[in-house]
Amino acid sequence: MSADLRAFALGLPKAELHLHLEGTLEPEMMFELAERNRIELPYASLEDARAAYDFRDLQSFLDLYYAGCAVLIEEEDFYDLTWAYLVRAARENICHVEPFFDPQTHTDRGILFGTVITGILRALEDAEDRFGITYKLIMSFLRDRPSSSALQTLERARLYGHRVAAVGLDSAEVGHPPEDFAEVFETARDRGYRIVAHAGEEGPPRYIKGALDVLGAERIDHGVRCLEDPALVQRLARDRVPLTVCPLSNVRLHVVETMSEHPLRRLMDAGLVVTINSDDPAYFGGYLTDNYVEAAGALGLTRTDLAALAEASFGASFLDDDAKEARIAEVRQYAADDKT
Ligand code: HPA
Ligand code: ZN
Repeated sequence: MSADLRAFALGLPKAELHLHLEGTLEPEMMFELAERNRIELPYASLEDARAAYDFRDLQSFLDLYYAGCAVLIEEEDFYDLTWAYLVRAARENICHVEPFFDPQTHTDRGILFGTVITGILRALEDAEDRFGITYKLIMSFLRDRPSSSALQTLERARLYGHRVAAVGLDSAEVGHPPEDFAEVFETARDRGYRIVAHAGEEGPPRYIKGALDVLGAERIDHGVRCLEDPALVQRLARDRVPLTVCPLSNVRLHVVETMSEHPLRRLMDAGLVVTINSDDPAYFGGYLTDNYVEAAGALGLTRTDLAALAEASFGASFLDDDAKEARIAEVRQYAADDKT
């Protein structure tokens, strides 16, 4: 991979559509917040924490990801977490973000929904003012907890109206099919939320169909296992259902063993709408630009491919059509002016 390609990817205007705010908690901030909130961490040092980030699968990651959340207590903690991500986003020319947060991870520990969302929204507003980064916030339900808990979370969000733009579904996938959340998502659709869902990361292609048919998902998070079902691939291509693909995440969680085996290029070649995202960058060894660059290096993607992926990231977003067009024009201008 050339330094030039990194410079190109770094400056490329991009949207990030699959990013868990809790997954941006760097070990440094985990230690800082642990001290501030007088919480005991299971790690002796930063190196100790990083050494623990050697995952076998999704569940072994989720165990540490949820444990790390214990340091997030005050509104200020959620603000600092979100702000640190947005400062990085600004440096990488990420100009639109649609981040997830997992309210149940916090409300189940006795933290108020309002504490969590107010901290996050304040940081998003400040980043819009300061850096011009636009946003749509996505509230994600934990699929390994009862659907009654998801419904309760939906009720709590009512007070915040359309400041929550969309709802999603994440956490341990296998054994927790989308159908379990039919009622929750029907209610969410009735209340005007946009719909996304993780599906086909570790789970089978039928979970992707369930997310589309039962939940009404407009975008599939991950979705890489669709390739096992050619009819599903055709459907996703025909209906232009975007996939938010996370290359480094897939390697670190052993969805694929190496980046050169990653299906990103095959998904693009099959005519699917594909975007690149970082998922949980503090845990998976790279932020958004790293995902562009590492995928490009291993799969032979060109600048034209990367620009097309950046265009797709705005096209697949929940921005209105005028805003999408304006951002896509910026990508085209950037590629045309490229001097890197
Ligand atoms: N998959 C499912 N749940 C998650 C993930 C993921 O990649 N990251 C955070 N929660
Ligand atoms: Zn995810």
